[in-house]
Amino acid sequence: VRKEDIHSSNTETQRPPGESFLKNSWYAAAWAHEIEQKPFPTVLLNEPVVLFRASDGTPVALQDRCPHRRVPLSAGKIVDDAIQCPYHGMRFNGQGRCIFAPAQERIPSAAHIRSYPVVERHTLIWIWMGDPALANDGLIPTEVVSTLDDPDWRHKGQRRYLKCSYRLLIDNLTDMLHLAYVHTSTIGNPAIEKSAGNMKLDRGDNFVRVERWMIDQAPPPGFVSAGGFTGNIDRWHVSNFVPPSYFRLDLGAAPAGTGAPQGKIDPATAMIRHNINCITPETETTCHYFWAESNRSWRRDPTITERIYAIVLEAFEEDTEILELQQRTINFDPSAPELHLSVDAPGIQVRKILKHRIDEELAASSSQLQASSD
Ligand code: FES
Ligand SMILES: [Fe+2]
Repeated sequence: VRKEDIHSSNTETQRPPGESFLKNSWYAAAWAHEIEQKPFPTVLLNEPVVLFRASDGTPVALQDRCPHRRVPLSAGKIVDDAIQCPYHGMRFNGQGRCIFAPAQERIPSAAHIRSYPVVERHTLIWIWMGDPALANDGLIPTEVVSTLDDPDWRHKGQRRYLKCSYRLLIDNLTDMLHLAYVHTSTIGNPAIEKSAGNMKLDRGDNFVRVERWMIDQAPPPGFVSAGGFTGNIDRWHVSNFVPPSYFRLDLGAAPAGTGAPQGKIDPATAMIRHNINCITPETETTCHYFWAESNRSWRRDPTITERIYAIVLEAFEEDTEILELQQRTINFDPSAPELHLSVDAPGIQVRKILKHRIDEELAASSSQLQASSD
């Protein structure tokens, strides 16, 4: 950690509204099972969006604002794969083109709404809020979410709504120290604090990986109830961040001294988990949180998926409470500086990558604007 990191103020919160999101990226818009042949309203990156499925099952995402009198189309209904405005009945197809204007023959040329690229993959509906020309589905963060539809794994997930910036949740998922204070009844215990500074940090242009091991420690409460550990455990916690806001936490434990740190992990006795996290900003100070607990230990105990989920849910409820309190306090003075501790090093790397990607995007779009005004 360099000196400038320790005393830097929180410049991210000083950006003008609308500039703190990476636009050219896939974001989780919904779980696939949430989207049916009826309007599903949501707000993503400050834009109202309506999702629905066409009759062949293809997901569609449109701007949720009728161009006539700005009523949300999501309050209307789906008619022949088009969405009909609830106010005066204008209809828009899946590409956002108006196909019916009431009481007139001619369809006004400006009667067009934005449609967003969407892809259904790995049990999620992904949306691209930026320049559609850049929406390449190879950029979906498969490495983070692939176990959601892998037959060797079982998972259970949830959508949460948090009244805090997506950035606070990103910080929280990078931070391990809070487990020793926030999660003492679930996934944390004093062993965490002792080993919090003991980590291997790798960073690339597009990832941060933090590996931590807690060797020969007593299992925290949730590991006893869900993992069935009675004696000491060797526990690993590997956090993989992919920008702008995805995390795969590789979590697990094995009976102490059975060789897990050397890579000898036996699914018959170990607990092997991925905690999968996709965060989508709603506004500057609210976010949608799609998370799931995925595990490879279900064969030895078919109830383990449900039990791990319940424990992690309890932990995320503990996080939600603290993050919403944090956001409220930040709102009083968003430019107040914050102090960093040495264990914050991974979080600072994550912030730097995100900032770099957003700066790059802003520079590219302002040079495009420049070019088009020349
Ligand atoms: S507001 Fe939508 S048709 Fe009038
Ligand atoms: Fe937490």
